[in-house]
Amino acid sequence: MPAISASAPGKVILFGEHAVVYGRPAIAVPVNEVRAKAIVTADPLSLPGSVRIQAPDVGIDVMLANLPAHHPLAAAVWQVSAALDLAHIPACKIRITSTIPVASGLGSSAAVSVAIIRALSTFLGVSLMDEQISAMAYEVEKLHHGTPSGVDNTVIVYRMPVYFIREQTIERFSIGTSLTLVIGDSGVASPTAQTVEDVRAAWQKEPERYEKMFNAIGDIVRNARNVIAVGHLETIGTLMDENHAILAQMGVSSPELDALTTAARDAGALGAKLCGGGRGGNIVALGTPQTAPRISEALENAGAVRRIITRIDSYTS
Ligand code: PMV
Repeated sequence: MPAISASAPGKVILFGEHAVVYGRPAIAVPVNEVRAKAIVTADPLSLPGSVRIQAPDVGIDVMLANLPAHHPLAAAVWQVSAALDLAHIPACKIRITSTIPVASGLGSSAAVSVAIIRALSTFLGVSLMDEQISAMAYEVEKLHHGTPSGVDNTVIVYRMPVYFIREQTIERFSIGTSLTLVIGDSGVASPTAQTVEDVRAAWQKEPERYEKMFNAIGDIVRNARNVIAVGHLETIGTLMDENHAILAQMGVSSPELDALTTAARDAGALGAKLCGGGRGGNIVALGTPQTAPRISEALENAGAVRRIITRIDSYTS
């Protein structure tokens, strides 16, 4: 049997992180320049149930049976096994690689889960629906950070820009003019679980103040959806700046992220904000095809360890 492979893109949250955990909308888009990949190869010489997991990027080469069931890589495999009601997974090797930086707000954990679920189910001869794959990846996301909103697995499985509200049907939205985004990595790893937990603790301590900020972000996201539909780039940029300012008030920015957003704006970005959990990880800036290289260079000079320029095509829904 030939090896079966599947890959999944990274993602960036354009508007609405953190508030999305509390029921407000978010807008997220796939980032196809970085991907997680899983390759499943049959091992006809071993007994059923003998599954080897290799993830060289994180130094893992282990039999599935020796990984705790709640380990995210194992959990993705067990999700498939349970969905297909298998007594034993046929002997195989699952090799996982990824160019998505970890713990940096680009959805690396969800992309790895989705790649594993797609490759393994195809290897087992079953074609799962996107909805099922997203639900399975969501279960694994819960192991990464207790209360995920589900935005990461959704945008990564559907591979398209989404307007997302927790526990509601996902919506596509119109994009009046294509968007050129410049993403810059602060190089500071910051696990989402920590920032989500910190925001929860702060919200419990000062519920009124945090509800106000979540509402303000919700308003920005709804506004952004309309402005993206008409393609008014300057206003999209302004809304990104406003979203960043509120995230900073919420305590999830950092000197590095503030320096990168400032550098992007100084180099001509129409707006810039941190993306994902914050305190580290990436920022996303809105440029144009003309200004993007300059913004990328400015981010590099300001200390960004990696830059990605990506384009979101216009679309009529
Ligand atoms: O840091 P990431 O890529 O996992 O994004 C997290 C986005 C949050 O809104 C902070 C959490 C969530 O589950 O939506």
